[in-house]
Amino acid sequence: MSERFDPRTLWNISYGFYVVTSHSADGKLNGQIANSVFQVTAEPPQIAAAINKGNLTHRYIEESGVFTVSVLAQEVPIAFIGLFGFSSGRDVDKLSQVNYKTSTIGAPIVLDYALCFFRG
Ligand SMILES: Cc1cc2nc3c(=O)[nH]c(=O)nc-3n(C[C@H](O)[C@H](O)[C@H](O)COP(=O)(O)O)c2cc1C
Repeated sequence: MSERFDPRTLWNISYGFYVVTSHSADGKLNGQIANSVFQVTAEPPQIAAAINKGNLTHRYIEESGVFTVSVLAQEVPIAFIGLFGFSSGRDVDKLSQVNYKTSTIGAPIVLDYALCFFRG
């Protein structure tokens, strides 16, 4: 067996598909696609998300200290993935283009294609 790393090996790692949202200090809303959401503890229920520091969502999470996670269904259209996963809230108002409700912690919960959601 070759010792060279085959990038296709990464295809064997399973992961989910989520929208992580937050809000800025002055109440602006944003969110992004993430697949790096995972359970930390069951009791109390805690989850974590790995968010790139360059993302606007990261800045909002830092500012507000809160985030929500919508667990997405498999049949998410490519336009939705493009909006939340390939564009930044610095350039486009993402939340104006989807259905969401505002959670008690102030961050939006994206409802489109969501199987369930978590909030702090
Ligand atoms: C399938 C997929 C999975 C992604 N997973 C993550 C992730 O786990 N963490 C992350 O920081 N960015 C992830 N991204 C990239 C962000 O969604 C992307 O950079 C987004 O444009 C950031 O938006 P923002 O600047 O409005 O926060 C993923 C994108 C896609 C398409």
